[in-house]
Amino acid sequence: MKQSLSVTDNRTGEQYTLPIESGTIRAMDLRKIKVSDDDFGLISYDPAFMNTASCRSKITFIDGDAGILRYRGYPIEQLAEKSSYLEVAYLILHGELPDKPQLEDWKWHITHHTFIHENIKKFMDGFHHDAHPMGMLVGTIGALSTFYPDAKSIHDAESRQKQIYRLIGKVPTIAAFAYRHSTGVPYAYPVNDLSYAGNFLNMMFKMTEVKYQPNTVLERALDVLFILHADHEQNCSTNAMRSIGSSQADPFSAVAGAAAALYGPLHGGANEEVLRMLREIGSKQKVPEYIKRVKSGEFRLMGFGHRVYKNYDPRARIIKRVADEVFESTGKNPLLDIALELERIALEDDYFVSRKLYPNVDFYSGIIYQAMRFPEEMFPVLFAIPRTSGWIAQWQEMLLDPEQKIARPRQIYEGHSQRDFVPMERR
Ligand code: CMC
Repeated sequence: MKQSLSVTDNRTGEQYTLPIESGTIRAMDLRKIKVSDDDFGLISYDPAFMNTASCRSKITFIDGDAGILRYRGYPIEQLAEKSSYLEVAYLILHGELPDKPQLEDWKWHITHHTFIHENIKKFMDGFHHDAHPMGMLVGTIGALSTFYPDAKSIHDAESRQKQIYRLIGKVPTIAAFAYRHSTGVPYAYPVNDLSYAGNFLNMMFKMTEVKYQPNTVLERALDVLFILHADHEQNCSTNAMRSIGSSQADPFSAVAGAAAALYGPLHGGANEEVLRMLREIGSKQKVPEYIKRVKSGEFRLMGFGHRVYKNYDPRARIIKRVADEVFESTGKNPLLDIALELERIALEDDYFVSRKLYPNVDFYSGIIYQAMRFPEEMFPVLFAIPRTSGWIAQWQEMLLDPEQKIARPRQIYEGHSQRDFVPMERR
């Protein structure tokens, strides 16, 4: 089978052969298709990147029709069952699972980068008492760039490694401090002999106890949720990370930008919206009426649908199982019954079936977070913590890819052609 595409330009009758590699043609090959020598050449138009690969990647594989998600080849189901978040972060960043000494070394370095400079704490004090923690996270990660000017040495592998430890270590601390700032209780400092998730729970919820002991069921559940959120190939925030990183900005600035992209309600902000929606519905009986309004186009069913998954999101399936374990420990969240009814009715309804709209990762995660006592505003922050490893793995892959350059899409200009300036008195 020939790996090429024959194209006839009907404007000129010219024929072109475009090579096909990995099921892809190169958009730059279209540029040789011209009507005249001074023609710029054909370009492709793809708003929202519906059908454009922006990079080659070896990190995450998704088959959206089959509902498959793998990190570095390992199925998400196996990682969620057998691994820990820090091990998965190592895998995502290094390409292979760590052996025992490598994992110990990795954990040691992350754990020893969890403290933040006292001035960062002061910086956070400047936020208004009701500042959204995700806004605080975005701003504070960006501010970290000014504390670590060495992070600008993006071509130095040793420096990159240091920033990676810092980012994975400090993002949970900033996240927990953002929460404590909003509640007005004193910041709780990191504790090194707790796990990554256990320490985060400590920084969130420690009160007067001398040593905070996390509930082991919740600690493990949170770690699994972190695994599920660690990477998801070229989504909106990862694309932002790569795009900002492509200008060779330092990784703190790029992660701040990626986190800002995650903040939106169509991306990482969806889990917060799901809870609002479930509360607004209020009872199982009101679900059919709500579905009717969604179908009439009044609003979207939050936590449903995905650009890539046209099948059940495999992460949502795992989260449903985690929910059972959490609720055994915390007692059932009453919103779960509404969510289950919403899912049941939606999955029988032709509107959702024909559009292949299934529950996504955000549909059940918020119900679990709420049962763990996280306030809704923290939900997108809880997404950003584990996604940090994915962002920096994608950033590093981009930096080391010789084909990558500064990201710079083209446009179709539809504005005025040249016209003369009109003085104020003649407007
Ligand atoms: N509720 C109702 N209808 C929907 C929904 C929904 N949640 N999602 C898509 N549709 C409809 C949409 O109206 C359109 O219908 P039609 O063809 O009649 O115009 C069709 O399905 C295709 O939608 P689209 O907007 O072209 O799909 P997209 O791939 O651009 O959007 C999405 C993907 C996730 C933004 C969208 O499904 C959505 O807005 N979902 C709700 C927000 C949400 O849960 N986001 C979290 C995503 S998973 C976590 C993450 O990656 O951040």
